[in-house]
Amino acid sequence: MTRPIIIDTDPGQDDALAILLALASPEELDVRAIVAVAGNVPLPLTQKNARRLVDLSGRTDVPVYAGCPRPMVCPLRTAENVHGRSGLDGHDWPEPATPLQAQHGVDYLIEALMAADEGGITLCTLGPLTNIAMALVKEPRCARGIGEIVMMGGGFFEGGNTTPAAEFNILVDPHAAHVVFASGLKLTLLPLDVTHQALATPARIARFAALGNKTGKACAGMLSFFNRHDVEKYGEDGAPLHDPCVIASLLQPDLFAGKMVPVQIDIAPGLTLGMTVMDWWGVTGEAANCMVMNRINADGYFDLLAKRLARLP
Ligand code: BDR
Ligand code: CA
Repeated sequence: MTRPIIIDTDPGQDDALAILLALASPEELDVRAIVAVAGNVPLPLTQKNARRLVDLSGRTDVPVYAGCPRPMVCPLRTAENVHGRSGLDGHDWPEPATPLQAQHGVDYLIEALMAADEGGITLCTLGPLTNIAMALVKEPRCARGIGEIVMMGGGFFEGGNTTPAAEFNILVDPHAAHVVFASGLKLTLLPLDVTHQALATPARIARFAALGNKTGKACAGMLSFFNRHDVEKYGEDGAPLHDPCVIASLLQPDLFAGKMVPVQIDIAPGLTLGMTVMDWWGVTGEAANCMVMNRINADGYFDLLAKRLARLP
């Protein structure tokens, strides 16, 4: 059965591969829309990048919306040092032809979720959780339409990638993350503990380059750019390919393993702001609120990506 999803994202090279993976998988995933949020780069660029990806995939039936230009409380923090000035550096992108929808992304989310069957939509989040939290705050009844939220964010045993304690997506908008993690909705998290096992090594990038299509070339170019920063930072053979884990977990759940645990977001100002505090060993007696993945079959993941990206133009 085809699963209706909405992708909320801040592209970003790894967001790009996640979006392309979803758009290449129409038998399993009915991508209702892509909603951009400010994160890796400011909103005018993330919404433009989302439209570029729709163009590249040929899936111009998928509408793109722009959501919030800044986090709920904190000033916006971006990551051009990782993703380059455009957010999608590493490929020569034309101006997008796909138009931006006029409706605000948060209002679209509310409308789509209110119109959905109960639990009918899976939200896939690849960036800060601002849009999702804003929708839940503005119209709490829209929660009824959400079957599950599958998120890339956080980290526990791996620590943080933006501060020692916090991962980028959660740190950018910790208050939004708090709203989502306290919502009582069904949650699945793909944290750094998983994504740091999924490295875009030169051999894996070469496989994308050799696909023989425009998409493979664009992905290889973007990942080579992405690698230059992370290889130096982590001293590994490739950058962690974070965001496609969200889509891969829907397409092939057996690639991942994890456990239901209680997760809370630290929103107190200080050293651990934005930390995803996970009670991994059940020491608090709190109820588990999130399925947290901590293992991945990385070869299977890159195999899935290569096979699906080969389907696109
Ligand atoms: C997350 O932060 C962004 O830089 C990536 O796109 C990913 O969503 C990893 O921490
Ligand atoms: Ca992202």
